[in-house]
Amino acid sequence: MKARYDFSGKVAVITGGTDGIGLAAAQAFVDGGASVVIAGRNVERGQRALDSITGAREKVRFISTDVSQPDNVTKMVDLCLSEFGRLDFGVNNAAAEFPLVPMTEIPLESVDRSIDTDLRGTWLCMKAEIEAMLKTGGGAIVNVSSVNGMAASPKASIYSATKHGVNGLTAAAAREYIGQGIRINTVCPGAIETPRRQRRLTGFTPEQVEAHYADLATRVPAGRVGLSEEVAAGIVWLCSDESTYVVGHHLVIDGGLNA
Ligand SMILES: NC(=O)c1ccc[n+]([C@@H]2O[C@H](COP(=O)([O-])OP(=O)(O)OC[C@H]3O[C@@H](n4cnc5c(N)ncnc54)[C@H](OP(=O)(O)O)[C@@H]3O)[C@@H](O)[C@H]2O)c1
Repeated sequence: MKARYDFSGKVAVITGGTDGIGLAAAQAFVDGGASVVIAGRNVERGQRALDSITGAREKVRFISTDVSQPDNVTKMVDLCLSEFGRLDFGVNNAAAEFPLVPMTEIPLESVDRSIDTDLRGTWLCMKAEIEAMLKTGGGAIVNVSSVNGMAASPKASIYSATKHGVNGLTAAAAREYIGQGIRINTVCPGAIETPRRQRRLTGFTPEQVEAHYADLATRVPAGRVGLSEEVAAGIVWLCSDESTYVVGHHLVIDGGLNA
């Protein structure tokens, strides 16, 4: 693919980089010439992700990582430094899946998993990434939030709470670290076609799947779901020299859903 930006000599780490939006972001960084570490829990998925990368595959590493575990996150950032000598970009994209149910019906384990992955995980990753970036004079971090971090959807209350938390964490950290050369922002995707969305449709009849997309098409002003690549485009822009005055911003990428 034609590279939009020149990231040669730069190093990116992407959590949840083995599927969906994270994998599209990994490919976009590779297209720009960056070295990339992709992190996710499942080793087979990690291998599949590595195999799917086109172009300079030799500049990509996978590390099995659960972002809610401090030692995993430390190892992930250490790999960036040991393999590639620096860290320039952190994309904190991993989030827990959750049941679409009213607030009173959410299992406690699901509440804990969402908070541990989305919020604690994002904080752990940002902390390790910022510490590494400070050693080389700066970088850029993009946290993958959601339109649910700006507003809320019924049957997604804890998700909405964690994504609002991610936006708050981002804004505070952006103010704290911009003076030391680290720009921190979010992207807030709307309805994006990813394996996560596909899993939501497991068990649906073809008619129900059609009705799902027809409903989305009427609710999204753009008339369709978005692509992972359309979110990745926002992520790499926020890491590029084209966005040097964009700090603590929440970039909504949703086909107008939240407008
Ligand atoms: N798709 C949408 O419509 C949409 C809309 C708004 C926001 N988002 C946000 O976009 C991000 C990516 O979503 P997606 O739809 O691309 O999801 P996806 O296709 O399900 O991919 C999720 C990725 O995260 C990894 N992951 C999950 N839990 C993890 C953990 N504890 N530690 C490390 N990695 C973990 C998964 O690999 P393993 O399972 O192997 O760990 C996978 O690589 C999420 O933050 C989501 O909230 C998505």
